Amino acid sequence: MFVTLCICLLAILYYAKFRYSRNFLYEFCKTIPTVGDLPMLGHTHWFIGGPEKILNNIRSLIQKIEEKGTVSTIWIGPSLYVVSLDPEDVQKILENCLEKDYSYKFLQAWLGNGLFVAPVDLWKAHRRLLLPVFHNRVIEEYIEVFGEQGNVLVDRLRDQVGKSSFDVYEYVTSCMLDIVFETAMGKKMDVQHNPDTPYLRARKTVMSIINMRLFKAWLQPDALFRLTSHAVTQKESIDVTHKFTDEVIQNKIAAFEKLSDSEDRKDILQLLLERKLAFSNIELREHIDSITIAGNDTTALVISYALLLLGCHEDAQDKVYKELHSILGDSQKSPTKEDLSKMDYLERVIKETMRLYTVVPIIGRKTDKELKLSTFTIPAGVGCAVIPMVMHRSKRLWGPDADSFNPDRFLPENCAARHPCAYIPFSYGTRNCIGRHFGMLAMKSILANVLRSYKVSSKECDQLKIEILLFPRYHSEKTLPGTPISLKI
Ligand code: HEM
Repeated sequence: MFVTLCICLLAILYYAKFRYSRNFLYEFCKTIPTVGDLPMLGHTHWFIGGPEKILNNIRSLIQKIEEKGTVSTIWIGPSLYVVSLDPEDVQKILENCLEKDYSYKFLQAWLGNGLFVAPVDLWKAHRRLLLPVFHNRVIEEYIEVFGEQGNVLVDRLRDQVGKSSFDVYEYVTSCMLDIVFETAMGKKMDVQHNPDTPYLRARKTVMSIINMRLFKAWLQPDALFRLTSHAVTQKESIDVTHKFTDEVIQNKIAAFEKLSDSEDRKDILQLLLERKLAFSNIELREHIDSITIAGNDTTALVISYALLLLGCHEDAQDKVYKELHSILGDSQKSPTKEDLSKMDYLERVIKETMRLYTVVPIIGRKTDKELKLSTFTIPAGVGCAVIPMVMHRSKRLWGPDADSFNPDRFLPENCAARHPCAYIPFSYGTRNCIGRHFGMLAMKSILANVLRSYKVSSKECDQLKIEILLFPRYHSEKTLPGTPISLKI
């Protein structure tokens, strides 16, 4: 009895100390509005359920915020977030808060201090070193690979012509994997013909476990996670992926002299080795893994969503076709850099796709010092959630037809007066997407190759879910195709 009493007393004392140390947060919360919270629970109940339910809950919660203004605090368990839908505030957050939020730590066991998750001091140094290998001139060397792999995709799609609808994402993601592996580490994987290897299986397993942890609060504390079988599976799968990249790096180092003398196109890993940067082999692996992961599903999803949208907007598809024909004629050659630069309408289609289907739906940052926004000041140590997925469909920012597909929103004259943070599919500020030029060129090249070979039809996909990225509801479920399209010649 006495022991129980002591434990209770200690627990109460610990809780009181915990509350006291966070008093500044409770005081801060009194200064800005909040909606949809429950006593003790805060907003945690909105983030319980499957990935589709959570997405719908986030949308409903944001609608509530928009009814009252543009800003709210959100408590998820013990973590406090500030959400602002005002582009002016978003600009200040993305320019000043470069540290990633706590939720990114689940990626750290896999990607270590790769650019995507690196703590800010290390990130600053490494981003400076990596920027030259993502320079437009370097990336443009890879256009040939985009064309070659796009042609393999077109060939593979031939099997589907005239059949009922099929999941195009499964095809596109294999194509993008071949592109990122070849350009990042010079490895021709031929995923398009061999999609089931132990390495690729291990990658999928790690991603699904990380995603599960993100949305299942009880799996988040390391101590609890380690008690589950997922921890063992995650460790085994991460080991498989690390071993794979380590071997590629070791082989590359062994062949370094020979490759440096060659006139052939150089992959990102080769360029990093040639620059004699002070990266250890582990750091090289962390960067290469981060690049191949960040560059694959994102681009594959945008291409698939663009095909879905064009499949139900025949007028826009005709315009793309005419534009491609005017640039490439009847030739079967893959688009060159000059060709790609002339595809203005296709580029607007891609931008509008990324507005309506914002594949990186949420960006989480953390304040490391006080940050003054338009109507209040956030103390240090608070999470900031930027939600491009919601801002991109805001009627306040895009007008009453915000939900409809209109690529001409991205005509230069229509963009001129728009706030730079009203549209941020690649994020904004110095910690924005380092691969945006790579992504844009790859997406244009692949879409150009597919759309001049086939006529696409589809029913738009409005059922979505959050699994780190914005996926179609049926992605990875065997029941229905996630991104269903059908093809004609
Ligand atoms: C449609 C395609 C893409 C989209 C929409 C996209 C979007 C984004 C966004 C929003 C971020 C910031 C994420 C955050 O702060 O949480 C980001 C970061 C990043 N992206 Fe992309 N991305 C795309 C393609 C690519 C490609 C093709 C690559 C590489 C080849 C790439 C590599 C990276 C890396 C390394 C980062 C971390 C940058 C840093 O923290 O300095 N991305 N991307």
